[in-house]
Amino acid sequence: MTPMLEQYVHWKDKYPDCLLFFRMGDFYEMFFEDAKTASAVLDITLTSRSKDSENQIPMAGVPFHSVDSYLGRLVAAGYRVAICEQITEPDGRTLVERSVTRIVTPGTWLPENSDGDGKIAACLFEGKNLSVALLDSASGALRAGTFALEGGVSILSAFAPNEVLLRRGQLEQFRKSCPSLTSCNTVERDKGDFSPPQASSWLCRKWNISSLSAMGLDDRDAAAGAAATAVKYLEETQFSKASHITAVTPILPRENLILDQNTQANLELIDQSTTSLFWVLNRCRTPMGKRMLKNWITSPLQDIAAIEARQDIVERLAGDPRLRARLGELLAGCRDMGKSLSRITLNMGSPSDMLVIKETLNFVPEIRALAAEDEALATLIPDCDTTELAALLMAAVADSVPRFLRDGGVIKGGFDAELDSWRSKAENSSSWLAAFEEAERARSGIKNLKAGVNKVFGYYIEIPKGNAGRAPMNYIRKQTLVNAERFITDELKAFEREMFSAESEMLAIEERIYAGLVEAVLAQAAAIQRTANFIAELDTLLSLGAVAAEQGYCRPQMDMSKDFVVKNARHPVVEVTLGKNPFTPNDFNFSDENGRRIAIITGPNMAGKSTYLRMAALIAVMAHMGSFIPAESAKIGLIDRVFTRIGARDELARGQSTFMVEMVETANILRHATDRSLIILDEVGRGTSTYDGLSIAWSVVEFLQGQEHARPRVFFATHYHELTQLAELLPGIVNLSMGVEESDRGVVFLHKIVEAPSDRSYGIEVARLAGVPAAVLRRSEELLATFEERGAEKNEEVKSSQQNQLTLFDVRQEAVLEELAACDPNNMTPMAALELVCRLREESRKVLGFK
Ligand SMILES: Nc1ncnc2c1ncn2[C@@H]1O[C@H](COP(=O)(O)OP(=O)(O)OP(=O)(O)O)[C@@H](O)[C@H]1O
Ligand SMILES: [Mg+2]
Repeated sequence: MTPMLEQYVHWKDKYPDCLLFFRMGDFYEMFFEDAKTASAVLDITLTSRSKDSENQIPMAGVPFHSVDSYLGRLVAAGYRVAICEQITEPDGRTLVERSVTRIVTPGTWLPENSDGDGKIAACLFEGKNLSVALLDSASGALRAGTFALEGGVSILSAFAPNEVLLRRGQLEQFRKSCPSLTSCNTVERDKGDFSPPQASSWLCRKWNISSLSAMGLDDRDAAAGAAATAVKYLEETQFSKASHITAVTPILPRENLILDQNTQANLELIDQSTTSLFWVLNRCRTPMGKRMLKNWITSPLQDIAAIEARQDIVERLAGDPRLRARLGELLAGCRDMGKSLSRITLNMGSPSDMLVIKETLNFVPEIRALAAEDEALATLIPDCDTTELAALLMAAVADSVPRFLRDGGVIKGGFDAELDSWRSKAENSSSWLAAFEEAERARSGIKNLKAGVNKVFGYYIEIPKGNAGRAPMNYIRKQTLVNAERFITDELKAFEREMFSAESEMLAIEERIYAGLVEAVLAQAAAIQRTANFIAELDTLLSLGAVAAEQGYCRPQMDMSKDFVVKNARHPVVEVTLGKNPFTPNDFNFSDENGRRIAIITGPNMAGKSTYLRMAALIAVMAHMGSFIPAESAKIGLIDRVFTRIGARDELARGQSTFMVEMVETANILRHATDRSLIILDEVGRGTSTYDGLSIAWSVVEFLQGQEHARPRVFFATHYHELTQLAELLPGIVNLSMGVEESDRGVVFLHKIVEAPSDRSYGIEVARLAGVPAAVLRRSEELLATFEERGAEKNEEVKSSQQNQLTLFDVRQEAVLEELAACDPNNMTPMAALELVCRLREESRKVLGFK
């Protein structure tokens, strides 16, 4: 094995669970199994080192300047990558020293140019409790708390981490307790990391405080152990002091409205798609705002004062288009300062991160001033000062920077006199050389003498062969070409030395200044972070204000009742996607006054039941975010959690049957709903036989209704008409249905909710609209009549009634007849008529089985 490969193996052995990216010049190379893995995942060529030898070593590589995109794909596929850099300059003789400088993992991955936001969760199961710490690597926000198991799991699931850190030995328990996170990347950490006394003192030392209680967390709380584990992990993988993490905030038990991952997915809250709530609400100008908006959508608030504080600002912004425009313009200039700060503190920063901070800080005074003009907005302004740092960066960082510091040009002219003088020397080199050439020509009288420079041989004076003999005495021969001789003089030699050192001098000076800038940024990390947060909050609220104004949203009144009263509500996403066809608004009307808590919604397929249900959930989410909602008016009592059981998504991948998933989700709801929960049930029981399904649906409603003091608000859409009887049997239940109009040409969906059970299903009408052949429809109608008449118990008998059974024959025959009936002979050319006859003859012969 060559020394270089030995070096590779040495590092690979230290990081066996990572792919090793081994820097070789302009490439990162991988060898052995890593090369095979990377070539398969990244679709890059697998070659081999030492091609001719017998023991070929698989090898694959990616260019260093585009490494981010490859890393992104590996991380998305769940891999960890150790980056092994060259740490000495190659001299062509000895082996370059290399060392792993960071580890890229799903939770720590912060690419420069994408929305990727690394989210790490650390969790510790202890008895009936679960302690969690949630770390947002991009913003440095760290939160932690200890909860009863179920509460902890739902907070964890709502956070949707990219990576979960567990105490060694708790993986099995994690899988069992958090089924929705089974596909999440997990890392086992040592017990010691989680132990509260050590962990707390470690954090206190880091932040230079005497006790975590200053931040509202008990030093003995296992949550402190989880918090320390998360921070340590980030520092360990990034080989840095994560100085952008400046505090831990306790997660209060009733701080957020909880939306588990299942519900987040069911409601399409933040998917990439153009049907997500995020897509409708996002008018953010900055990546920081987008990140915050996503957070707000998935973790709405559960505190009326906090919700109203946001509403006040949204109202202010919604009502003032000029303020929105001014603020929007300023925010549009801001870039992802939060992430750049994180990248710099985590040693992944590049000059462009410095530029991002400079450009963004530059807008801060104006943004602060604008916010200060308004009472509501002024509450957001952070108490910190970044003007000095901004001035430093304005003076020191160039207006456009290269990707790497070593390319030079990061530091602005005028900042450092020594750097400037080297630069002007370097810039003046060509004019100096021209003047030198002119002077030498005059001195020697040789007209075709030339002065020049070449990368390999350096500076020279060139005289064509014929005149070479006339070279002045002080010319020293340097090189002989075919047609010319090259010389150097002492003066030119001195100039050459100066020029060569200029380059390394300039680089050294730039590096020194840059290191000072990094230090200045780190010293102000907390202020930068709070400012970034301020910009993100403003941006998010501005976005909500703009959408509220443009879409005609209203401010919901929030209180401690159990009301859910919404007048003329619209579905925020469907109303946008419908385009010209207006969305038909509908009401919700649960109030303490009318005592309604459960609505059974029936009505034909396609009538809008599911839309109505999702609308309720989305409006609840929006209202608790502090957003305005698509309605005329609303009064909503605080909700602690939205549960959904909606439709069958494909769960085969998880190895569970559709019905099993349906029941697991239902069980979860029945166990954990409280009197403040909002529950959306769309066709529970559908996945099994009619009677099983009906019985389950019926008892679910009974159960939810029966908990007198813990009656949640429930919207239940169903095709089981039998359920409508419940409203007569039990209090608090109301029957709603979607209105339809019947006409000669079939049913028309009015999409309007009526307070009455629907009379029947109209399934056959929908089948007709969908183009099911008329013969099948007729047979269905016949059967339906029989079922209804005889009572469904006798359906076995019906099934075996052969004389009415439908065959493929009828369907085809009917198609021929339909076509014939539809044609208009008077308006056909003889040719078209002939064609029709031929075709129908063919069809009929097929139907009748002629060969
Ligand atoms: N209030 C409304 N205004 C306008 N269009 C609506 C409205 N509600 C629903 N729609 C339209 O009707 C379509 C069908 O709605 P939805 O899926 O909610 O019906 P459904 O009653 O749940 O049907 P199924 O019983 O088959 O599940 C939606 O895709 C939407 O485009
Ligand atoms: Mg539906």
